[in-house]
Amino acid sequence: MNEFFNKDIISIKDFNKDQLEKIFSSTDKIMQLSPTERREICKGKTLGYLFYEPSTRTRLSFDSAMASVGGNSLGIADVSSSSTQKGESLADTVKIMSIYSDVLVLRHTLDGSSRFAAEVSEKPVINAGSGTEEHPTQAIQDLFTMKKEKKKIDGLKIGIVGDLKYGRTVYSLLYGLGNYDVDVRLISPESLRIRSDSVYEIKKKLDFTESTKLEDHIDDLDVLYVTRIQKERFPDEEEYLKVKGSYVVGLDLLKQMKDDSIIMHPLPRIDEISTDVDSTKNAKYFQQAEYGMHTRAALLGLTLNENGF
Ligand code: CP
Repeated sequence: MNEFFNKDIISIKDFNKDQLEKIFSSTDKIMQLSPTERREICKGKTLGYLFYEPSTRTRLSFDSAMASVGGNSLGIADVSSSSTQKGESLADTVKIMSIYSDVLVLRHTLDGSSRFAAEVSEKPVINAGSGTEEHPTQAIQDLFTMKKEKKKIDGLKIGIVGDLKYGRTVYSLLYGLGNYDVDVRLISPESLRIRSDSVYEIKKKLDFTESTKLEDHIDDLDVLYVTRIQKERFPDEEEYLKVKGSYVVGLDLLKQMKDDSIIMHPLPRIDEISTDVDSTKNAKYFQQAEYGMHTRAALLGLTLNENGF
């Protein structure tokens, strides 16, 4: 039996290297199929989505991925138009969605929300972002992007810059990178360093350095992973204003990077990567978003087919 069948996807920590590599090979396979072959994979299946926070890429790429493998999607893109407004609980909403669908995709403001949803859902739950905790399918797409664009993950020198305190994509990426032999440099303002409660766990599997200066690392990196400083996560706007615009990747900085280095970003971007960079061969963030659609199609195919595809 396919080991991913009916499995919840709550944390990237639940996947070992072999399992990640299986998802990557399944994504390669799905990308090579014709549209007609692809549409057989989840024919007749329904994805239910439930978004308690805004999203462009995650929700639409799941929607698009499900259509590409022959299934359909329904759901709540904005809870302000749902019975949540009347006071309906997350548990009841999840139970109802799991009656109407074969797999649930949940984004929620709270850490632990997806694990809680998985306990009450009859159907597998995929975490599409839980508070500041995790965004596992983003990490799968990020690792897949490195593998496709750099032809390997082991041996890479990776700089992760920006909001490392509140950025859930960063935590999932670090947990995922813990399966590989990589050199990681964390670069952030002092107030946005990685959360101390996660350092111990990450250090068990991954070596990293911490710094505030991007220029100390820029000429040595194979991958520069840029993140947005997330205004909406700051308890106090004054604190946000102190660090706003701390790092801006422009053509001047790009000139100092290795010719074959790549720039990634989970998006959305505000001003941390100048739009001049978009047309350079190093900019891979839009390609990364496209890979997200294919990795999610592979995850749906694996989750919904007992014998895989
Ligand atoms: N990367 C990401 O999660 O983007 P959205 O918030 O637009 O889904």
